[in-house]
Amino acid sequence: MKRLDPERLAFEWGQAFGRSPDGVALAPGRVNLIGEHTDYNGGFVLPMAIERHVGVAFGARGDRTLRARALAFAESRDAEIDRLRPGMGGWFGYVAGVAWALEASGYRVRGADLLIDADLPRDAGLSSSAALELASARALSAASEIDWEPVEMAQLCRKGENDFVGVACGIMDQMASAACEEGAALLLDCRSLEGSAVELPAGFTVVVMDSGVRRSLAGGEYNRRRQSCEAAVAALREDFPEVGSLRDVSAERLATVRERLDETVYRRAQHVVLESYRPVDLAAAFAAGDVARAGHLINESHDGLRDLFEVSCRELDMLVDLARDRRECLGARLTGAGFGGCAIALVEAGSAATFIDAVQDRYRKSVRAGQDFFVSRPVGGARLVP
Ligand code: GLA
Repeated sequence: MKRLDPERLAFEWGQAFGRSPDGVALAPGRVNLIGEHTDYNGGFVLPMAIERHVGVAFGARGDRTLRARALAFAESRDAEIDRLRPGMGGWFGYVAGVAWALEASGYRVRGADLLIDADLPRDAGLSSSAALELASARALSAASEIDWEPVEMAQLCRKGENDFVGVACGIMDQMASAACEEGAALLLDCRSLEGSAVELPAGFTVVVMDSGVRRSLAGGEYNRRRQSCEAAVAALREDFPEVGSLRDVSAERLATVRERLDETVYRRAQHVVLESYRPVDLAAAFAAGDVARAGHLINESHDGLRDLFEVSCRELDMLVDLARDRRECLGARLTGAGFGGCAIALVEAGSAATFIDAVQDRYRKSVRAGQDFFVSRPVGGARLVP
């Protein structure tokens, strides 16, 4: 995929709208290092923003019209801010949802002309939706002179996705795209939204491996996973009323209600209970330079997603197995919601190119042709390009 060039985007904005833009906002996609399907269960996550972005060149207008053009779809859409109503789908729904959420929390959004481009693949589990939301939020905030506060903006963008577009996501992706610090992953407590910066162990890097499988069924399956988690919490509360979410439950306690739970619900809850604090453990292993333990945790996370939570697929399992076969790989797992999309591997930095050649070659030969693998350093959250 062609790399995003903010200067070119600003130039094209000028061509499209016949004046100079006010600026360009960039928001990154993310991988999650560990802590999968824990955000909506109040647990911990450890996402890392990647060097792939959505860019929004913008200019304020004198009225209340929101006009946007997406280069990837060669499509333009517009709407009056005062007439935005929940239920709008398509790419423009994510943009309009941000304006709607800002207004719903009392901000006054100015009309704006937006030109959108990205070098983040869609539907690959790298949070292109959250990146579009945060880049739009950064652009609309700047055009409307609204102060930028990353945690608040992540919450507003999630509200737009939940209540305007109608997708029941958790908070991880928006927080990663808004609040990651340059050079570090973000250890986030999804209950308190307190975060801390976590550096990768020296000498290691993250390789992103796209399976090429697109997550067409993810919506329904994702909601079913959430319902299983809620069913487990309801059963636990009968005996332990203090339980707020699966994060509060140990594997031993979960086992005490096993016979009252459907077997599938039990397995799903087991994954979440085991995964909720893995991000804290992985951050501790990184800090201690205990790379063997780090790799072990990453592998355990994937195995739980495959066997207990059941959100992997044949292609992701093959990618993970091919990666783990390599000596320079510490651990590998699927990243994001699952059902397709990407896997990540923690790899010795000096051997990353060899790793990519070998795994990509075997994957392309035995599974799917032409899939994109890349190394990413951790980048910072949504920002304006001067
Ligand atoms: C998607 C959602 C996130 C999170 C992950 C699974 O990316 O948007 O909120 O639930 O799946 O960890």
